[in-house]
Amino acid sequence: MAKILVTGGTGHLGRDLAPALTEAGHTVRLLARKTGQDNSVEWVMGDLATGDGIEEALRGIDTVIHAATLSPIAKRGMRLVDFFSSPSSVDVDGTRYLLAAAEHSGVSHFIFVSIVGLEFSRLPYARVKLAGERLVRESSLPWSVIRATPFYYLLAQMLGGLKWLPVWPLPTSPSNPVDTRDVAFYLSRAVTDGKRGVRPEIGGPDMMPFSSFARQYCDALGLRRLILPLPIGRKMSLGMGLVETGERLGKRTWKAWLSEQCERAR
Ligand SMILES: NC(=O)c1ccc[n+]([C@@H]2O[C@H](COP(=O)([O-])OP(=O)(O)OC[C@H]3O[C@@H](n4cnc5c(N)ncnc54)[C@H](OP(=O)(O)O)[C@@H]3O)[C@@H](O)[C@H]2O)c1
Repeated sequence: MAKILVTGGTGHLGRDLAPALTEAGHTVRLLARKTGQDNSVEWVMGDLATGDGIEEALRGIDTVIHAATLSPIAKRGMRLVDFFSSPSSVDVDGTRYLLAAAEHSGVSHFIFVSIVGLEFSRLPYARVKLAGERLVRESSLPWSVIRATPFYYLLAQMLGGLKWLPVWPLPTSPSNPVDTRDVAFYLSRAVTDGKRGVRPEIGGPDMMPFSSFARQYCDALGLRRLILPLPIGRKMSLGMGLVETGERLGKRTWKAWLSEQCERAR
């Protein structure tokens, strides 16, 4: 069993990843800016943007899963500024600090969580994320890159931001977002399968027009909105981050995820 350092353990994916790893029998340490309540993992305070705590966090570690990111869009929804810039302190500088310290401490596997279709996106966040991924690919450490399609929570957040509009004109481009629990399970398998390099991507089981995801969202929440299917070109949809992958490795459907969220909110 591995001794794993997880970055981003307090995030959406990280909150599913830590239990998936401990259930698989691994020892898990989280590098976090604030320690949390979960006693089944070790907590080390650190900050990827400054490099604080990284060396200490890596002591005795053989595998790193780097799932931290600084995405202002995921944190507070899309704003105009996000079309012009995105901070690189965590995804590029933080990845650089972490890789250098991991090389120094003799880590045997560095797993980087990434995003499907980064090359085609026009968003500055994607360029920052891609720069971080390139650092990993160029590193002398044994590495794996695992790319996932957008997570369900992000899709729900985006659609939630449209609630005030009575009419939703939405692209019909196909996409297959995925649940973070499925990505967490896939990552936990990658720790022990012995493979390295660029792994098959992971997307969700539903491959549908984006507008159909919105229809199911409205149905689940009982929202009456007019959804106008808007056919757009492939280049434009990829530029907007509407991506798909043939690797439909996720199991949980969007409908099932929505129904769980509605149940939880009751
Ligand atoms: N969201 C998606 O749709 C999607 C799709 C495919 C792949 N991914 C990738 O999956 C990974 C996880 O994404 P997510 O959506 O779960 O992210 P998230 O919820 O936004 O969480 C980000 C995590 O990074 C940590 N972090 C931010 N700044 C930090 C810093 N300076 N030092 C240390 N930790 C810091 C956050 O810690 P705090 O709690 O302290 O803020 C949090 O734990 C990322 O690599 C992302 O690129 C995301």
